Amino acid sequence: MVECFTPKEIVEALDRYIIGQEEAKKAVAIALRNRWRRQQLPLHLKEEVLPKNIIMMGPTGVGKTEIARRLARLARAPFIKVEASKFTEVGYVGRDVESIIRDLTKLAVQMVKGEAAERVKERARSNAEERLLDLLIPPPPIEKRRGHPLTTQEEEAREQYKRTREKFRDMLHQGKLDDRTVEIETEEKSAMPAVEIISSSGLEDMDINFKDFLGNLFPKRYKKRRVKVPEALDIFTEEEAQRLIDMDQVVREAI
Ligand SMILES: Nc1ncnc2c1ncn2[C@@H]1O[C@H](COP(=O)(O)OP(=O)(O)OP(=O)(O)O)[C@@H](O)[C@H]1O
Ligand SMILES: [Mg+2]
Repeated sequence: MVECFTPKEIVEALDRYIIGQEEAKKAVAIALRNRWRRQQLPLHLKEEVLPKNIIMMGPTGVGKTEIARRLARLARAPFIKVEASKFTEVGYVGRDVESIIRDLTKLAVQMVKGEAAERVKERARSNAEERLLDLLIPPPPIEKRRGHPLTTQEEEAREQYKRTREKFRDMLHQGKLDDRTVEIETEEKSAMPAVEIISSSGLEDMDINFKDFLGNLFPKRYKKRRVKVPEALDIFTEEEAQRLIDMDQVVREAI
């Protein structure tokens, strides 16, 4: 939770989506505000204040889940719906309870990563554009010899190249290169074929670290593909965004 809303503001925000249910909206608004206030406390005091849980009761379809979902949005909190009967207390039959936490954490990572991606979007796009231009018109191999300045000819070639590059950039922006095809190298998606067979439920229920461990066992495979310019730009943008996002930081914040 980054911002602080007053209970009144929270109710107003919920009013935009939830009809009626005034009592429930007020109760969850106060609970959310209390949670925020608890988070502001110094650590030793924080431990003294236990956050309250909420049980909402009522007939089906009156908006219980909807209120919870909207509230989570407001709080920038991850939201999952689990069927409690799958988690029996006695001997933990069925899915183990920790997997709720794992699911929540995974969702939180996704959310924080999405926010981070939004922040680096423009930089990723402009890096991608440079990469694409490198592909379309490879830079001349002007060697930088130590102590030797470039010859006039080389300087000229360089200036010429810069002008051409900017011309291509304009064409790119105007969509004039959209029909061109370029060859790019992309990471192969299904690099772990055998694993799906081992675990019938896929990797979803496996420990995150184990999944990473498997990923590292199988080296990344790259393959060359021919794609149209706009698609190449999208692929590069995606890759550059991944590169710009500090996943350690994302995971820390998510947790
Ligand atoms: N008070 C309400 N205001 C706006 N939409 C509502 C309201 N009550 C229900 N809805 C809509 O009806 C649908 C069902 O609501 P919801 O899933 O929240 O019901 P529920 O109370 O959780 O029911 P159940 O007990 O079956 O889980 C949702 O799509 C929700 O948007
Ligand atoms: Mg429900």
